[in-house]
Amino acid sequence: MKKTLKTVCALSLTGLLLFSLGGCGGDKKENARPATQKLTIYWGALEDFMAADVAAFEKETGIKVTAVRMSSGETLQRLKAEKDAPKASVWFGGPADGQIQAKADGLLEKYVSPNAAKIPDRFRDRDGFWTGVYVGYLGFASNGKLLKEKNLEPPKNWNDLLKPEYKGQIVMPNPKSSGTGYTLLASMFQLRGEEDALEYMTKLDKQMKNYQKSGSAPAKMAGQGECLIGISFLHDAIKFREGGMKDLILTHPSEGTGYEVGAVSLIKGGPDQEAAKRFIDWCLTAKAQEIGQTVGSYQFLTHPDAKPPKQADELKGIKLIKYNFLWAGRHRDEVVNKWEKAIGK
Ligand code: F6P
Repeated sequence: MKKTLKTVCALSLTGLLLFSLGGCGGDKKENARPATQKLTIYWGALEDFMAADVAAFEKETGIKVTAVRMSSGETLQRLKAEKDAPKASVWFGGPADGQIQAKADGLLEKYVSPNAAKIPDRFRDRDGFWTGVYVGYLGFASNGKLLKEKNLEPPKNWNDLLKPEYKGQIVMPNPKSSGTGYTLLASMFQLRGEEDALEYMTKLDKQMKNYQKSGSAPAKMAGQGECLIGISFLHDAIKFREGGMKDLILTHPSEGTGYEVGAVSLIKGGPDQEAAKRFIDWCLTAKAQEIGQTVGSYQFLTHPDAKPPKQADELKGIKLIKYNFLWAGRHRDEVVNKWEKAIGK
């Protein structure tokens, strides 16, 4: 049986991207294997990573997957709204903070995959509600051409972002919608304490060109020359630079930066729980973890036998803060509300 991927549907659904592979009018004879099971995934990583993972999983299992890409805050809102009748069964990707909050809100189901045993403890929920699949570091993506024109250096620490010469030319993700944005905000709280963090974020707000819904957008905007500096996870900036945005310069704060453990979890009460568990088992294998890098997702990986992308080598050794995921996840709403109040949103 020929197993070429016949169709990729990308439908915009209330501003969200919906991918359904192999189920959008493809040749029925070629896809003759009966779709014995189906699965809906809420996806927090990039769309091309989603398409590649979905295609590989469908090919291996015959389970037909519908995946929707959303930023962390959007997924949380969606899960809360659907609590009484969940539509999806797996949450894949996005910083674990979001899934820690979802666990606290009773939106997740405990599932300890047999494959989770291989994943180091520091990347796993001790109660078995989520498991880490990748790791990413926050940083600054600057447009080298624009910096040169203005005779400026890229930022090298958090306070540099407050320099008058950068005013109105910085873009960051909104911490309410974006897991990346929340990682930045929670990092500031942890580095500086609440009062200083809110003071800093209020000053930073005055430097902003705008806030973006998703975490990778600021790096892309810097690459396209739409802003001078974007704050994003650095693996996204590497992807954009490799994809042709050659002016991107990557720097990271010398005091230490925040980071994510991208996680996977089982949604409580969602349909197709067996298919969901199969996906979770699958995405925790070394082989599945290596798929992202084939489409430019260059996070570090949590499986000790998975080959990390060589593109991430330049990020090795970056100083990280002692990021407390439990604290960040449990205080997400409270911290975001305080930030919104401080900057007058
Ligand atoms: O590569 C995409 C990515 O940076 C992931 O590493 C991360 O988990 C996710 O985006 C966060 O997305 P958002 O900030 O939009 O919630």
